[in-house]
Amino acid sequence: MLERETTGPEKKGREMALKFSHLLPVFLFLSAISAQSNEDPTIKTMEDFSGYPSERHSCISDSLSLSVDKENLQRQIDELSTFSDTPAPSVTRIIYSEKDVLARRYIKNLLGLSGLSIREDAVGNIFGRWEGYEPELGAVATGSHVDAIPYSGKYDGVVGVLGAIEAINALRRSGFKPRRTLEVIMFTSEEPTRYGISCLGSRLMAGIEPLSQALKGTVDGQNISFLDAARSAGYAKDQVDLSTVFVKKGTYSAFLELHIEQGPILEEEGVSIGIVTAIAAPASIKVDFEGNGGHAGAVLMPSRNDAGLAAAELALAVEKHVLESGSVDTVGTVGIMELHPGAINSIPSKAHIEIDTRDIDEKRRNTVVEKIQKSAITIGKNRGVNLAEFKIINQDPPALSDESIIKAMEVASQQLNLSHKLMISRAYHDSLFMARISPMGMIFIPCYKGYSHKPEEFASIDDIANGVKVLALTMAKLSLN
Ligand code: GLV
Ligand code: MN
Ligand code: MN
Repeated sequence: MLERETTGPEKKGREMALKFSHLLPVFLFLSAISAQSNEDPTIKTMEDFSGYPSERHSCISDSLSLSVDKENLQRQIDELSTFSDTPAPSVTRIIYSEKDVLARRYIKNLLGLSGLSIREDAVGNIFGRWEGYEPELGAVATGSHVDAIPYSGKYDGVVGVLGAIEAINALRRSGFKPRRTLEVIMFTSEEPTRYGISCLGSRLMAGIEPLSQALKGTVDGQNISFLDAARSAGYAKDQVDLSTVFVKKGTYSAFLELHIEQGPILEEEGVSIGIVTAIAAPASIKVDFEGNGGHAGAVLMPSRNDAGLAAAELALAVEKHVLESGSVDTVGTVGIMELHPGAINSIPSKAHIEIDTRDIDEKRRNTVVEKIQKSAITIGKNRGVNLAEFKIINQDPPALSDESIIKAMEVASQQLNLSHKLMISRAYHDSLFMARISPMGMIFIPCYKGYSHKPEEFASIDDIANGVKVLALTMAKLSLN
């Protein structure tokens, strides 16, 4: 089970460490700069770009502090939201759709304007690189996604992509020169909407071979293959070998993601920054039931084997098994339920449901998955309905943030005078998979009532700017490590 927050003596220890840890990056920086200072006199001290003078360098001007161009960032968030297949304020942006391609163009333009060198891989993960003065070292990367589930909002993922670009801009304006290369990443298909695979781009980057094989035969609801869709968006050109997307461990020395909390805690407690200690373990399952169907008037009740009712009963069983766990941390959702043929006067002959279940405790989540499977078999038998498919699409372990990144984020928040707290991410993120190839950390900012995955999703530009500053300062610190 994952720890929600540090308590007792451990907390005291952490507080003590924090009290003095702000000196560490300064020290590390100064040792880094001593080797560099003859070569590049424009390289500034840590205080220069944090804007908060340390005891050792109290004469640095505040004019060098990190500044976020809020107006520009808000304009970009608003502009990006217009690439949507549903009317505002909702946003729907499905991978490789026309709107997704336009959004990608928009992001690449911004990466170029920020002076980053752009690369795209075979599935359309987009990378913008600011080379450090020691480019052979592992890079510090940050990013998120801009795809959006149907009828969602304009901040999920977007804050972590546009915010990352603005963090780079802020660092450039401050005169900072990175030692390790800094990289912005826009991941392909964090949302599972089109191909049922969440965090598709980051999963592949993490080197999951079975996924790269499976994608060759994966089709969407319209029977359009993943590879054809990718090609229509300009990717996977001549290649079917998606292992080119894999990223070697060591490529990144740190991966950071800025994201709205998607929960109510920061807003309710009036805390500016959430520092994620762990990401909960998600699983998703597809189930298909098949019955005989028939006429809604003519087939009497004892003669029916209604696939729709089997699906409905399984949906209720999901709720039951989740509640049986006895923990509020266990959740389960049936977000897709499709009946065939979908006519009021026809008994459903086919039913398809998709189940999402998560927990911060992997074992407990696995118990729920097992119970759901048993229920699917029993319900099928009892109703004389064929359980045509029970497929676990993913059953991922949780991910832990890296201790030194957590610490760097805490120090950055303190230096920026921003209140912060440690917290769990109940939503999944590309960070869940980046953690497999790199030390990982996430920065949360408050969002209105914790709303997400709906049009009412909102985060204030002041809260976003706070997150961008913490991101920029943490990247700067880690770049010098
Ligand atoms: C991410 O979008 C999630 O569903 O957690
Ligand atoms: Mn999302
Ligand atoms: Mn997201």
